[in-house]
Amino acid sequence: MSFSAFSSSSFTIFMFLFFFLLILPSSNSLLNSPSINATLRRQPRQLSVNYYAKTCPKVEILVGSVTSQMFKDAPASGPATIRLFFHDCFVEGCDGSILISTKPGSKELAEKDAEDNKDLAKEAFEGMNKAKAVVESKCPGVVSCADILAIATRDFVHLVGGPYYQVKKGRWDGKISKASRVHQNLPQSNSTVDQLLKFFSSKGLTPEDLVVLSGAHTIGFAHCKQFVNRLYDYKGTKKPDPSMDPRLLKALKMSCPQFGGNVDIVAPFDVTTPFSFDNAYYGNLEAKLGLLASDQALSLDPRTKSFVQDLAKDKHKFFQAFAAAMDKMGSIGVKRGRKHGEFRKDCTMHM
Ligand code: HEM
Repeated sequence: MSFSAFSSSSFTIFMFLFFFLLILPSSNSLLNSPSINATLRRQPRQLSVNYYAKTCPKVEILVGSVTSQMFKDAPASGPATIRLFFHDCFVEGCDGSILISTKPGSKELAEKDAEDNKDLAKEAFEGMNKAKAVVESKCPGVVSCADILAIATRDFVHLVGGPYYQVKKGRWDGKISKASRVHQNLPQSNSTVDQLLKFFSSKGLTPEDLVVLSGAHTIGFAHCKQFVNRLYDYKGTKKPDPSMDPRLLKALKMSCPQFGGNVDIVAPFDVTTPFSFDNAYYGNLEAKLGLLASDQALSLDPRTKSFVQDLAKDKHKFFQAFAAAMDKMGSIGVKRGRKHGEFRKDCTMHM
């Protein structure tokens, strides 16, 4: 999916939703909750901000030259890369294993080709390959693809209006990339809060991290198939999801018919400010404007609701918490050493 694809195939829904937003009352003023504390967790020792100080001191500038250009040429690479990083970290850890291509003729598909990764936009993979080529030209064989992905993700968060944070580095690239390991490790758009909490807890992330990291859905788009069940036949009731605002329901139904719709149509996660990284996502959840059932559920469940309320009130707090949670997510399953890791020259191929 790219913004250009979006503007041609989904112009109607986009315009309708924008019109719809203009008439929405602000619900944020109703919120009044205690502030959150971003959870800080001890980092694995091997990661450090200065990891490449001697071997590739300009690595962030090199990656930055590519991300800023990509953002100009293909803005969809922003949300796409952030999602790519999430899918990399949750499957086998943050080890660049999602960037590996399936070997031609191989029976076993690589992570990238798993069903759950099919909708990851190609712009994100292209951007990574470009960034790797630029880094390799100046620092051959030194910087891991996993670290480049972590840096590029931070760049895009910032480029789209989110916080700038330091990225700890020192991840090695993983040697395992199997499509068969993907589904069991990734939450789904219809996951219950119980399931979401279990997924996140299995990666060392707290309920607060779940709510904070879901705030990445302040930008980006989802295909109709991810939420169409909410529009027509929610949980077999033959009725729409009662937790969706009727005006959003109407707008989404216009672009996403129950059967036979255009499979390329997408809708913005954040119907109020789809192109900027802010905390409007949380206010939207409180106003029943969540796109996915898994997003909306966060504002309804007693275990997550108060975090949604806190973040909806305070953009600065969201930014701080998001930076800390990305640091935590970026430390999941980090590899080090030749037994489990490598430094690939080409991110798409094992050494
Ligand atoms: C909490 C569980 C989560 C679920 C169930 C979930 C599910 C999804 C789904 C279904 C899509 C739409 C895919 C499509 O139709 O193309 C999506 C998009 C996206 N997700 Fe998540 N996600 C979750 C958490 C996260 C996290 C933790 C991050 C990053 C920190 C993230 C970042 C994104 C971004 C940026 C997009 C937009 C991608 C684009 O527009 O290309 N998500 N997610």
